[in-house]
Amino acid sequence: MLCFHSPIFDVEIDLMMKNLFIALEGIDGSGKSTQVKLLTKKLQSIGHKVYATFEPTDSPIGKMIREIFSGKMEADHKVIAGLFVADRLDHLLNKTNGILKMLDDGYTVITDRYYFSSYAYHSPYMSMDWVIEANRLSAELLRPDLNIYIDISAEESMKRIAKGRASTELYETLDNLKNVRSLYLQAFEKLKSIEKVKIVNGERTEEIISEDIWQHIQAII
Ligand code: ADP
Ligand code: TYD
Repeated sequence: MLCFHSPIFDVEIDLMMKNLFIALEGIDGSGKSTQVKLLTKKLQSIGHKVYATFEPTDSPIGKMIREIFSGKMEADHKVIAGLFVADRLDHLLNKTNGILKMLDDGYTVITDRYYFSSYAYHSPYMSMDWVIEANRLSAELLRPDLNIYIDISAEESMKRIAKGRASTELYETLDNLKNVRSLYLQAFEKLKSIEKVKIVNGERTEEIISEDIWQHIQAII
């Protein structure tokens, strides 16, 4: 809910608006978490209460997923896709800090990854339609007001991962990331009648990308 003071009537007016829900998407190392931080600061500077969150989450389900990604646990790709469905539902519905609760409490919510990540990362192993169907409940509960896709090449992604980390995770190979990038673009095309997506070029400076994202956000505020 947004609140403002009317000088004409000298009262506080509550605007019954759904708070914004924004999802940042992109292949590994595309700059999502960097841009979540910059966007959080910008929104806070104009008075938004911001809840920045991410998937895989830090819930028990998200932790299990991270164990699989780091190689500590083994699971079939189809099981991983199923775990993400469950993690996402908990991300939305958790009574303590679920996204729906946070929106209800007046927060603008920004998430680093949401269901488009599943559409892109799991479609090499099962049909995209299956992945979309498996995530239907999440999509019906909450579609992002805007999905922002930070576009970098798989080559740039691999360079950034190598620079920032000692080890790579499952899915972080050049060929897979090329495929995931192309599946993201296919998913955007497939769902263009129901999803709002803006693609920004992620191979520019952090500041320029942030300004580009800000223009898109301002258009929907
Ligand atoms: P993600 O959350 O998508 O994995 P990060 O924001 O963690 O991406 O960025 C991955 C790496 O790339 C980090 O080392 C970060 O400092 C760097 N990085 C982020 N944005 C840019 C950019 N615009 N240009 C070059 N490097 C960047
Ligand atoms: P993340 O921690 O965001 O990695 P990065 O910061 O490198 O982008 O995500 C970890 C991995 O989880 C990443 O390789 C993408 C994958 N993933 C899926 O496979 N399916 C999903 O639904 C989501 C949200 C993430």
